Amino acid sequence: MTFPTQRPRRLRRTEALRGFVRETKLSTSGLVYPLFACPGTNVRLEVGSMPGIYQQSVDNIVEECREVAGLGIPAVILFGLPDKKDEIGSEASASDAAVQRAIEALRKAKLDLLILTDVCLCEYTSHGHCGIVKDGEVLNDPTLERLADSALSHARAGADIVAPSDMMDGRVGAIRKKLDTHGFENVAILSYAAKYCSAFYGPFREAAQSTPQFGDRRSYQMDPANAREALREVALDLEEGADIIMVKPALPYLDIIQRVRERFDVPVAAYNVSGEFAMVKAAARNGWVDEKRVVLEILTGIQRAGAQIILTYHAKDAARWLKAC
Ligand code: PBG
Repeated sequence: MTFPTQRPRRLRRTEALRGFVRETKLSTSGLVYPLFACPGTNVRLEVGSMPGIYQQSVDNIVEECREVAGLGIPAVILFGLPDKKDEIGSEASASDAAVQRAIEALRKAKLDLLILTDVCLCEYTSHGHCGIVKDGEVLNDPTLERLADSALSHARAGADIVAPSDMMDGRVGAIRKKLDTHGFENVAILSYAAKYCSAFYGPFREAAQSTPQFGDRRSYQMDPANAREALREVALDLEEGADIIMVKPALPYLDIIQRVRERFDVPVAAYNVSGEFAMVKAAARNGWVDEKRVVLEILTGIQRAGAQIILTYHAKDAARWLKAC
């Protein structure tokens, strides 16, 4: 049966009808807000390419997290900036570094927030790579112990979920083993399983001061042209013990999110990364797009593709807008 019997416009006539048949209902309950913790007190430096996003000392992180919790956002993910960088990224696992202190302060503040932490070395190493470097090469196996130690330090400080973003092979297994042998079997792992080597991380590298000092990340992050390989990465991380898996970036990889969602029965997250955020902000500031509508459409699209958890710098704005609708 076709026209005139079938008229899809019947169900689009009013907002009541549209709401009644809506397939994807974007909600604040899957949002995760990223924050950048740095040393010092009373520091709040806006990131040039990410309006509204700051490098902040622990005191200010706690204040912003109070606001985040008040908006009904369930989780934050913490990134850290070290006092000093070195060859092995020592501060990634130091109990008194910014991220570890921020976790402790948030625990003490008893906020209704899940605390996720990014586990990687690139913010902490002098060369800016995500692993140990020898003769210009990023070494896989020697990096695993450093990552596991970093994850353990986050767990000791009180993190709920650790999220390795380095893309070394075997890191989920190494972290799981380390956490378990130290009594942290209840700390979950969200793995950046399908993380692509993307130009969309540009603004983040300004925020986290983590631009590689030589070469690029192509020998460990995935080739943007590959989709089947993403399924293999996800399968391996699940075998090694990942609880939640992530696809990153989000917008150019909606097909990957969908395939992963269809293939695996685990929670799927997507990272709406810094470059995606910066493009929207820049266009909105020029009056070229309607920021609210664009952001809600983007987040709805990512959720519709299959991500129930979305890491996004738009989280606070989106939560406010969703409350109003
Ligand atoms: C660290 C890391 C990066 C991002 C999250 N964790 C940058 C990178 O891999 O260079 C990117 C996040 C964003 O762009 O918002 N490895």
